[in-house]
Amino acid sequence: MSAASTTPAVVIDVHLGPDDQAEALRRDVRDGLSRPQKSLPPKWLYDERGSELFDQITRLAEYYPTEAEREILLRHAPAIIERARPHTIVELGAGTSDKTRALLDAGRAASTLQRFIPFDVSEEFLRTTAATLTDAYPGLLVHGVVGDFDRHIERIPRGTERRMVVLLGGTIGNYPTAARRTLLREIVAGLSPGDRFLLGTDLVKDPARMVLAYDDPQGVTEAFNKNVLAVVNRELGAEFDPDRFDHEATWDPHEEWMDLGLRSRADQTVRIGDLGLEVDFAAGEYLRTEVSAKFRLASLAAELASVGLEVEYWFTDTAGDFAVSLSALRE
Ligand code: SAH
Ligand code: TRP
Repeated sequence: MSAASTTPAVVIDVHLGPDDQAEALRRDVRDGLSRPQKSLPPKWLYDERGSELFDQITRLAEYYPTEAEREILLRHAPAIIERARPHTIVELGAGTSDKTRALLDAGRAASTLQRFIPFDVSEEFLRTTAATLTDAYPGLLVHGVVGDFDRHIERIPRGTERRMVVLLGGTIGNYPTAARRTLLREIVAGLSPGDRFLLGTDLVKDPARMVLAYDDPQGVTEAFNKNVLAVVNRELGAEFDPDRFDHEATWDPHEEWMDLGLRSRADQTVRIGDLGLEVDFAAGEYLRTEVSAKFRLASLAAELASVGLEVEYWFTDTAGDFAVSLSALRE
């Protein structure tokens, strides 16, 4: 971009410094790998490479949620905007904000929308998204925020304007029940009367289809899942060999979530240099990297009601695979 360019500079607030991130990763790895049931929080899947791999996942034929949600947003964005009339749209876990463009287009057509605030843990990706949208939507103020859902939602800039907070892609399902409630409460705490919350949720369906969506034959999801090992190797001097783990995606019919993780192919001991830690994996031992809960409309409405939200509209795709709900604070 030339210095004479009239494109306004993109504003980006960074709440995650490199030291802060390094410390959080050390803690998560130390805690997560010393439990009897090993796990790592999903946010570490999304370094630059991981975010790219996720973007590839969204273009796989097997990964139905993206196209289902896109269909809903393309069809209903004008109705959503008419109802919510947002001055500001805040997007949590924005990624590329690709599907969100349907909302930005409708907001522009209705001339209500002034500002877009994408929020994400992945700084490089967020910078690219913010710059791309600034170019694509002249006149729209794009204000990116780099932060963690678990710590920085309250740092999102606020004014007296009407807002719509959006959380798409089924990301809410990556939080198990108790943590989900905490996240929803954080979101609700940032809403004022008249604001709206737009939530994308994947629905319970034939397990075979769900399993395929998280275990594609090309192995993109496997590469994405194993990328967390590369992150720990790079950032903490660990010696994980990704070839000594199998990608696993199973449907848990009791929890109604996809359980995603890595299973050790053999007895092995992995050194994590910077932590001075040696972690034993038995053959067949499981390291969970993520859950992806699937929902039913009635129980989701009840869950939203329990944190003070009332669903005004449900939108589903033609196949009934995915739901987008528009809610507001209960009077
Ligand atoms: N909204 C996009 C991307 C979904 S993937 C879509 O619908 O396709 C989940 C996104 O949330 C990623 O961009 C990831 O970087 C971000 N994310 C994951 N955990 C996060 C956390 N703890 N805090 C902030 N962002 C997070
Ligand atoms: N939010 C996405 C989902 O739950 C994340 C995701 C897609 C994912 N595929 C994955 C996470 C594979 C871990 C492994 O659908």
